[in-house]
Amino acid sequence: MTTNESTARPASGLEGVVVADTRLSDVDGEAGRLVIGGVAVEELAGSSTFEEACALLWDGAPPCETRRETLRAALARGRLHAFERLSSLGSALDAADGMDALRAAAAHLVVDERDEVDAAGLVTGALATFASAWQRRRCGLAPVSPDPARAHADDFLRMALGEPAGQARVEALDAYLVTVVDHGMNASTFTARVIASTRSDLVSAIVGAIGALKGPLHGGAPGPVLDMLDEIVAPARATAWLEAQLAAGRRVMGMGHRIYRVRDPRAFVLERAVARLEAGGVAAERLALARAVERAAEELLAARHPDRPLRANVEFYTAVLLDAVGLPRALFSPTFAAGRVAGWCAHVFEQRSTGRLVRPSSRYVGAPAPRDAA
Ligand code: COA
Repeated sequence: MTTNESTARPASGLEGVVVADTRLSDVDGEAGRLVIGGVAVEELAGSSTFEEACALLWDGAPPCETRRETLRAALARGRLHAFERLSSLGSALDAADGMDALRAAAAHLVVDERDEVDAAGLVTGALATFASAWQRRRCGLAPVSPDPARAHADDFLRMALGEPAGQARVEALDAYLVTVVDHGMNASTFTARVIASTRSDLVSAIVGAIGALKGPLHGGAPGPVLDMLDEIVAPARATAWLEAQLAAGRRVMGMGHRIYRVRDPRAFVLERAVARLEAGGVAAERLALARAVERAAEELLAARHPDRPLRANVEFYTAVLLDAVGLPRALFSPTFAAGRVAGWCAHVFEQRSTGRLVRPSSRYVGAPAPRDAA
């Protein structure tokens, strides 16, 4: 292996490069399998709450009853802490983009990191309050005060919608937050780990991760997926619409993945969660349309890229699920951040425990200095 920055060959997207050992989650892109804290995502999202998923990541084990309550209280403290800080955020929540607002608001957090789990609970709880308060403000409404007696998903939805959402929608959002809580060395998690490796603080790592998640190639896709479904309107129009999109050189949002060569397992989990809601009468048409668009996109992409399977990723059914629980599309990416932040925190602590600065190399392709040219 060469260590010479001027001759090393870069992998442009670091694909295949292992940058850390982790006990947090395992992504098998060939088999389409995701394991979070030792539990398959299909099982985790059906049987665990967000608090329990946090325990797997932060404690490394499922919680006992007392621990479950401790974590619930830690998240509630975070929601309350953020609510109390709303008046001192200045213009942070005035941003037109929810991720800009979340990034600016998160930067205001002051976190005592002596107890890692307390710190993680505080930051994780806070993002739910900031995201909800931003949503309320853009609608000209006052923020809703957190209710510490409620579970995190329940309270998040209540704060965002301004009223309790009902059991079915709370369960769907909880399943979503669990599903996205961690996912290997994705771009935002890597960002958080790089920042943590410099021995910077937790809040700095989270602010950087929010910035990485904002991009449409990472966490910014579900809003555009819903736009696409709105434009297509009916299953019969899917193929023509998608053909035009591809002919114009545009990507189909919610399709394709850097790691998965089969359908993203999270797409199954979220589709299942929407179908459960649908059984309650919500979102039936939207789900039927989404399934038809997915099938058409798969066929067209397979014809264009026979050697590169491009199947539905997590964002495809994220759009359908978050829409079905009543959240507006502008809040989709902030909601993703509100789930993934628990994973970011765990990765920050794991990275710190290695004590190793992340500092890769680059290959210089600029003009030679005069003495080299001679
Ligand atoms: N629609 C159309 N074409 C796509 C595509 C999509 N969603 N995803 C990949 N492709 C095409 C690329 O244009 C490229 O074609 P080319 O070889 O003719 O240039 C080929 O497939 C390989 O793509 P590449 O960019 O190398 O794949 P990647 O691993 O870097 O990309 C994503 C992964 C997720 C960035 C990509 O699939 C994408 O942009 N998807 C849409 C955005 C999205 O849903 N993001 C959420 C991810 S969870």
